[in-house]
Amino acid sequence: MSRDPNALVEEAKAALANSHAPYSEFRVGAALHTRSGRVFRGVNVENASLGLSICAERVAIFNAVAAGEKEFDAIAIATLAETPTPPCGACRQVMLEFADELDVHLVVAGHPIESHTLTELAPRPFKSYKD
Ligand code: THU
Repeated sequence: MSRDPNALVEEAKAALANSHAPYSEFRVGAALHTRSGRVFRGVNVENASLGLSICAERVAIFNAVAAGEKEFDAIAIATLAETPTPPCGACRQVMLEFADELDVHLVVAGHPIESHTLTELAPRPFKSYKD
């Protein structure tokens, strides 16, 4: 693990308050750490047309990219679930676009932080087809 995840985890927990999840009622907060030292938050944003909903992790990544950041080393993901919830496959694929490796910290109340690497979560990824 490259760095102490506690500060990033706190950012992800704080982001939870802004989740827009009136349909699933499953709030997700994410905090993405850039190699340059910045943190970008994301929340899941749902829509009445359910397929338009987007996960917190992708919102955090797209926020960072929009701000000119493309190099990341860690993401923290917070939910209010009973047990830690790893990121969905679509979010793993988007992480892979920008990071060969990434620490992924999962947090829910009452559990210790559960940390994984992106390689563990996506062991045989689809990457660029140009090489
Ligand atoms: N969700 C996330 O924000 N991240 C994930 O990795 C999985 C699911 C959101 C999408 C939707 O708003 C709600 O959780 C229920 O699926």
